[in-house]
Amino acid sequence: MNNNINIAIIGLGQIGAYLYNELRNKKKKIEKKTGKKIKIVAISAKNKDKKRKFPINKNIFYNNPLQIFKNKKIDVLFECIGLSNGISKKIVETAIKKKIHVITPNKALIAKHGDYLAKLAEQNSVNLEFEASVAGGIPIIKTIKESLATNKINKVYGILNGTTNYILSEMENSNENFDRVLKKAQKLGYAEPGNPKLDLNGFDAFAKVRILSALSFNTKISKYKCIMEGIENIKLEDIKIANQLGLRVKLLGISQIINDKLFETVHPCLVSKNTYIGNVNGVMNAVITEGKPVGESILQGEGAGPGPTSSSLLSDLLSILQGNIKYPFGISSTKRKSVKTFNNDNYTNSLYLRFDVKDKQGVLSLITNRLAKYKISVKRIIQTPDKKNKKATIVIITHKTKEKNARNCLSIFKNNTNILKFPTLIRLYN
Ligand SMILES: NC(=O)c1ccc[n+]([C@@H]2O[C@H](COP(=O)([O-])OP(=O)(O)OC[C@H]3O[C@@H](n4cnc5c(N)ncnc54)[C@H](OP(=O)(O)O)[C@@H]3O)[C@@H](O)[C@H]2O)c1
Repeated sequence: MNNNINIAIIGLGQIGAYLYNELRNKKKKIEKKTGKKIKIVAISAKNKDKKRKFPINKNIFYNNPLQIFKNKKIDVLFECIGLSNGISKKIVETAIKKKIHVITPNKALIAKHGDYLAKLAEQNSVNLEFEASVAGGIPIIKTIKESLATNKINKVYGILNGTTNYILSEMENSNENFDRVLKKAQKLGYAEPGNPKLDLNGFDAFAKVRILSALSFNTKISKYKCIMEGIENIKLEDIKIANQLGLRVKLLGISQIINDKLFETVHPCLVSKNTYIGNVNGVMNAVITEGKPVGESILQGEGAGPGPTSSSLLSDLLSILQGNIKYPFGISSTKRKSVKTFNNDNYTNSLYLRFDVKDKQGVLSLITNRLAKYKISVKRIIQTPDKKNKKATIVIITHKTKEKNARNCLSIFKNNTNILKFPTLIRLYN
């Protein structure tokens, strides 16, 4: 790599525009640290005339990002569009084939095509870096790939989505319901104004779990169907009851090896208020790794937003400029194993079950009998009558039970006229 580095940025949204500004402001700093002079020679977005947070040089703007490869010599390309397929994949693929280093915050692309793109990067002796794709500014990928490289990691989990963590924390703090707090989150820029679905339903966290699993366990990215649940069904009521029980609701992403098999999941969990993870609040993310011989390591920080994300993008750039050609997933693609997967049915947890029922005699025993039939034993029952509306809320905390039992047991409540809504289930974190 020579001393003059030509850079292209594709996508000038929240992340790309901020990155563009950072690169311009930090030229000298980057030169001091790496001895390389960077120059942004090409930028692209959908709409050239869109008003952006930072002024852009329209002379280097391309309407068609693929045209850049024909017109310019590029050394490092940032892909900041964010699609899991289509133009994002095409750009990354083309760049790698042309021996251009690629840096991306695009978790959707890496979770879907990471194996293929990593192999391509190795074949072309270029870097494919994606530190910013998981937990924003937290340097978890380098930590797993480099700092913990000689450890045997058995589990990696945490709060991987700032939007949902903010919503859950704010519901508790403000006593406001999900819809109101979601609106607040959108106003503050923590949730996407148009379609926040991918954050709320756990999809965003799930892509990150898949990337973390591949890095932690030296495996190919798994494709199997896991338990993926978001926070859309969490009611203020659940948060209040949890509070009384000394618990908090957190959306956790979990990846672990159980009996030599990979288990990945994203779902709301009830965690004790006395635990570390129970006190990671607001937009914060935290990732916890358990490895041998290192033990437990925790990284906490801002999981999204242009500032933290750019910090990770720039750290990838510095790593490349310092001359490290690395395997994208820490080891050679040929050595990454395919995954054997743990059967979801055998996932075991204590459960929090909330039933909205008619306030009638016999309803509680209907529920407990049904639970007993599936060998789900009850640890605690909290019953709150609403006499005026002839309704009651019954919360049951169970002892540990398998996922399969819970699913089969609860299915009957869909059609029972005494049970007003299908019960809410939240797993207690083991
Ligand atoms: N936002 C965060 O806090 C955050 C945090 C971590 C990771 N990320 C990741 O960063 C990536 C970018 O996110 P973002 O929030 O910056 O998204 P965004 O604000 O929606 O920006 C997307 C950009 O892509 C451009 N674009 C769309 N189609 C294009 C095309 N065909 N050719 C060229 N450019 C095109 C858009 O152009 P126009 O501007 O002209 O419409 C826009 O500038 C995603 O992978 C996301 O997951 C984001």
